[in-house]
Amino acid sequence: MEKEIRAIILGAGKGTRMKSSVPKVLHEIFSKPLISWVLDAINRLPYESESIVVIGHGAHDVEEYLNTNYKYVKTTLQKEQLGTGHAVSQALPILHDFRGEVIITCGDTPLITTETLNRLIKYHQNNNSDLTVLTTMFENPFGYGRIIRSTKGEVMRIVEEKDATESQKEIKEVNTGVYCLNWSKIRKAFSELKNNNSQGEYYLTDIIKWARDNSYTVLGCSVKDNSETFGINSRMDLAKATSIMKNRHLKALMEKGVTIVDPTTTYISPETTIEADTIVYPNTYIEGKNKIAKFCKIGPMARLRGNCDIAEGVKIGNFVELKNAKIAKNSNVCHLSYVGDAIIGSNVNIGAGTIFANYNSITKEKKQSKLLDNVSIGSNSVIVAPVEIKQNAFVAAQSCITKDIEANSLAMNRSPQKEVKNWVINKKGENK
Ligand code: UD1
Ligand code: CA
Repeated sequence: MEKEIRAIILGAGKGTRMKSSVPKVLHEIFSKPLISWVLDAINRLPYESESIVVIGHGAHDVEEYLNTNYKYVKTTLQKEQLGTGHAVSQALPILHDFRGEVIITCGDTPLITTETLNRLIKYHQNNNSDLTVLTTMFENPFGYGRIIRSTKGEVMRIVEEKDATESQKEIKEVNTGVYCLNWSKIRKAFSELKNNNSQGEYYLTDIIKWARDNSYTVLGCSVKDNSETFGINSRMDLAKATSIMKNRHLKALMEKGVTIVDPTTTYISPETTIEADTIVYPNTYIEGKNKIAKFCKIGPMARLRGNCDIAEGVKIGNFVELKNAKIAKNSNVCHLSYVGDAIIGSNVNIGAGTIFANYNSITKEKKQSKLLDNVSIGSNSVIVAPVEIKQNAFVAAQSCITKDIEANSLAMNRSPQKEVKNWVINKKGENK
């Protein structure tokens, strides 16, 4: 680990256009809140980092989420949303005498990558900058703050869309809303921000001009892929960000040698790794952290809900749902099954329609089941957790298994088949 940094994440804004009672930063992509994607990107940086989230609208819910999932993250309340500059000021008491670099970013830009954040910090450090803003180019830059450079190419200031002149609006280089600053120097700017602009807000962007006026070094570091800075303001944006995120990951997987039969209908969370020569069939939805080894076949129409560890040569077929499942080599779960909280050995065959009953709705507890190597489960069986089914055991179709099974045994608990001879003929006779 290198030296310490701090991150301020702005998330107090209302998100009016989401038309939601849920705070914007808690809206989800692959079942993970937007703020969480941003925090995780920061946490993967090769620095000792500490994040501060500025909360405001829906503060209670955001705080509760962060307290549960990111215990080390600090929050600071911005009671009134008086602008992005005012938002950052709320972190001043927490950071008072911090002496390193601070990154500022937004809680509604889930596509920002660790690589880009790291490049921004490196650029800032290598060029002895005091304030570096991450910029990008847009063919249609509408809505973004424009980067005003001097004739020598120095970043002079940022002008918001609503304050821009016609010629400034022509500028295609924009402010991504991500900054790296030398805290002990630039923090003084926050007490001097003014709100004399078209929106009557304290603009964070005004720190650029302040730093220039105070003879600090201000630089712009540019990111090529402008999708990284895509911010979410509406449900349409949320869908678009989901699509960008999944396409980015599918491309990376295909480049590594994974076959994705139909990228349009396949959703795989970037937190899922898949090895080469595995084939993912259409309409597969994979969320959360999962590991899938090589030569597996997944789908069509499979759903993985996280925490699955799938070894080489495993087949997961249509309408199969998996959660918290570890499956060893060459096992098959081919049709219509639910496997949750299970450890499954190698060469196991799970027949069609098998359900792992892992949840007790009265105690609200989840229990795990274990199937050892070469076990065979007949179709339409229920495995009621916790049970252990030992090597080579065979479960007859339609059994409800509530007790452990010894190695090499047959277990069945369905009622014996009954046959009533000539029942149909006799029935017809009765009706005459
Ligand atoms: C901001 C930048 C703009 C940049 C764009 C990039 C300013 C003045 N403008 O504009 O130059 O191109 O981001 O996306 O900074 N927030 C608070 N408290 C507030 C106001 C905002 O926490 O009082 C948060 C919002 O929740 C959001 C972020 O700050 O996460 C950005 O605010 P937003 O209003 O979306 O700024 P933009 O107008 O997009
Ligand atoms: Ca915005």
